[in-house]
Amino acid sequence: MTDPRELAARQPANFVLGAATAALQIEGGADLRGRCGWDEFAEQPGRIIDGSTPALTCDHFHRSEEDLELMSGAGLDGYRFSISWPRVQPEGSGRVSSEGLDFYDRLVDRLIERGIRPMATLYHWDTPIPLEQQGGWKVRSTAERFGEYAAIVGERLGDRVADWVSINEAATVVLNGYGLGVHSPGEEQLFRAGAVARNMVLGHGYAVQALRSVPVAGRIGVTNTHTPVSPATDSKKDKAMAGLLDFVHNRLFADPVLLGRSPEVPRGLPLPMRLMLKSVSRMSRKDLELVSQPLDFYGLNYYFPSLVAAGADPTGMSPDGESEAAKDLPFRLLDWPDLPQTDFGWPIAPDGLRQISQQMAERYGTRLPPVVITEGGASFNDAPSPDGSVNDDDRVAYLAAHIGVAADLANGAIPGFELEGYYVWTLLDNWEWAAGFSQRFGLVHVDFDTLERTPKSSYHWIGDVQRARRGKTEV
Ligand code: BGC
Repeated sequence: MTDPRELAARQPANFVLGAATAALQIEGGADLRGRCGWDEFAEQPGRIIDGSTPALTCDHFHRSEEDLELMSGAGLDGYRFSISWPRVQPEGSGRVSSEGLDFYDRLVDRLIERGIRPMATLYHWDTPIPLEQQGGWKVRSTAERFGEYAAIVGERLGDRVADWVSINEAATVVLNGYGLGVHSPGEEQLFRAGAVARNMVLGHGYAVQALRSVPVAGRIGVTNTHTPVSPATDSKKDKAMAGLLDFVHNRLFADPVLLGRSPEVPRGLPLPMRLMLKSVSRMSRKDLELVSQPLDFYGLNYYFPSLVAAGADPTGMSPDGESEAAKDLPFRLLDWPDLPQTDFGWPIAPDGLRQISQQMAERYGTRLPPVVITEGGASFNDAPSPDGSVNDDDRVAYLAAHIGVAADLANGAIPGFELEGYYVWTLLDNWEWAAGFSQRFGLVHVDFDTLERTPKSSYHWIGDVQRARRGKTEV
């Protein structure tokens, strides 16, 4: 199952196996960029589990050469990174920092020199503070500013970036940041946060329009996180709640982008809730046209499937932390009885990737462009052994199973679903948002005191897969 040669043999030749990161989680170099919402959020007591901030993290900003060397060592085909909006535009509008752009300019050049395909994400959650103060994603003007920023970055890097992702996981920003308050900006609006989704989808639309009019040479897409949702029982109530989670998690973003229409509110919900969901998700025809411009690819992040039962969880636990607001949700997520878990408590279910792909193919048909798994990975907190090695066999098993499913999908397992590649989350152990440094997802271990990088066995294993794919035998 984890034999690199076996996995290599299953992958089509043009399959892109890469790794993904996000600026705020690895860069550091905070004194050389503007501040973002997460900087302030992290400084509020009790928001981050270990009280840490994103000021230094892995200091990738000063160590990118070493990190590029690590990418080459694992033989990665592609690298997905994000561009820090406040590093490029410290105030979120107007003034552009050319030093900020220089950093990404060099990074893209170095990737290309090494034969690594650059995929750039324009927004991975770091909203510049002045925009946050004006209402963040609650106001349409943030979407318009985002379009302007996309044009600036497109002008500078558009001749070399191979793949563009407008926004990473609008669903997570809306649900965690505005709905439950476990992420920045820490608002607890529950389902009323749906209106925020509309502005994020608009931001995507403005960014696509901007990149196309530069025009950039690369392909343009968007990334969202998707979860196949199952009701805990066949009861009407559980089914209605599964429909509700599916609506807010999967459809609120993908339906306008891929189908050019607002998602249909699920049946079986109480009338006031139906009306509220309808009003927060409604968009004008003109806006729907803007957000549904054809895409070259769709980025799908897959971590786990969801099992839903009616009734709140009195502990207020959500996958990304504890939330007072979650105690008022009309449903709760249950542990899957038969599935093992990662150290984050997330279920491990490679088959969920097949299920969600099947659902996407059924829902979106020919409107679904080729898909890239832009993130998938697991938190296992293995520490270095006395001999200095980091043995994360659980991560190897996780990746082998998930990349195996991805290879089957890339070989056409689901008619109409075209899969191009898989980006492992993530290259380096990093700052895992509200979980601070307490959850490690990396192929490379980072000692957050010394910043020393130590490749784990999963890193060596990926390298073996890649060498086997390229026909070398010394695995
Ligand atoms: C996000 C990453 C995050 C990962 C693990 C994804 O939702 O895009 O930034 O670190 O999941 O939680």
